[in-house]
Amino acid sequence: MTRQAMTRQLWTHARLATLAGDQPWGWVEDGALVTEGEHLLWVGPAAELPAAYQQSVAQTYDLGGAVVTPGLIDCHTHLVYGGHRAHEFELRLQGASYEEIARAGGGIRSSLKATREASEDELYRVSARRAQALLDEGVTTLEIKSGYGLTPEAEAKMLRVARRLAGLGVDVRSTYLGAHALPPEFEGRADDYIGAVCEWMPVLQREGLVDAVDVFCEGIGFSLAQTRQVFEAARRFGLPVKLHAEQLSDLGGTALACEFGALSCDHLEYLSAAGIDAMARSGCVAVLLPGAYYFLRETKLPPVQALRDAGVPIAIATDHNPGTSPVLSLLLMLNMACTLFRLTPEEALRGVTQHAARALGLSDRGQLRAGQRADFCVWDIAHPNELAYYVGRNPLRQVVRGGLMRN
Ligand code: NIG
Ligand code: FE
Repeated sequence: MTRQAMTRQLWTHARLATLAGDQPWGWVEDGALVTEGEHLLWVGPAAELPAAYQQSVAQTYDLGGAVVTPGLIDCHTHLVYGGHRAHEFELRLQGASYEEIARAGGGIRSSLKATREASEDELYRVSARRAQALLDEGVTTLEIKSGYGLTPEAEAKMLRVARRLAGLGVDVRSTYLGAHALPPEFEGRADDYIGAVCEWMPVLQREGLVDAVDVFCEGIGFSLAQTRQVFEAARRFGLPVKLHAEQLSDLGGTALACEFGALSCDHLEYLSAAGIDAMARSGCVAVLLPGAYYFLRETKLPPVQALRDAGVPIAIATDHNPGTSPVLSLLLMLNMACTLFRLTPEEALRGVTQHAARALGLSDRGQLRAGQRADFCVWDIAHPNELAYYVGRNPLRQVVRGGLMRN
């Protein structure tokens, strides 16, 4: 590590929503942070700041009472794809359902065509604009799935673009979602396709492109047996799994995912009591996606109170994708998690920090405490509940990622 990277910096007059400890919000009214290199060295009330730290810092920043939270984490996106699907939005407004459009050859398959046709540079260009919108609201860690390529080459192209987006100043976690839809060349041969998805997995993994494996387990996606096959392959290659589960119907994918120690199950509108029980027992994170719920004009709510009662950690994400959630605002998702799903503003913030980190298997971020990465946001607000309150106002003042200020 270079000397520069190990520089100590002090941040004072911060109102800290640490999300650590027992206080609501992990609140510290007059707080200070000391960073050393990429990490937080000390976090707490200014009055308790050890004198040794005060003397050894290279830089001091006075935040003037601004609110500081952990950097935001968008733990479920399909951000890399070609084209868009505004015409399908119009069809749905005229009464067609998402499933009808998918079965008629639209949906994921239309994005597949546009993604395959796009060059890697073109894909990077359109995806970088989308990623920048998320970064501008304080996202410091971003998960991106493949799944609009569905050949080994096109999936690798998507995942390379995802990795390249890290150059914008964000940590990218990339998830292999080969089992997103059946590509036309495998029409009528879903089992063969799943076999191929499993064969491509170690190839992509060897290229350093895969952090986790996901499946779309649904009537219009893949069956429980096919999901199991993909998860067994992931286990062989030592890759953690996640699942698009119980979004449009209750297939029981959640319980299966929990058998494989899934990091998260995502969507969950149709989740049953047995599914909740499995999640609670295995420590799986429930990732709720209010953007997709809203955009599909879904009316079946995910079982938030039952998840809460069972002690299942709840994360919130944009699910940014061209078909069901063309959402590029994680702050808006905080608001919708509260208005649509009845989360509290504090639960919503934990959902895009602490619990989102866990949904990605990351234990080094999501809270402000010594030892965690120095990823944090400085907001021009007086209380963190304002993050879930405004619609269309971005109060972000400054992002620090890995101890460095991001412009
Ligand atoms: O998370 N459900 C599957 N995947 C996406 C939708 C993808 C698409 O329609 O392009 C989702 O909702
Ligand atoms: Fe999704």
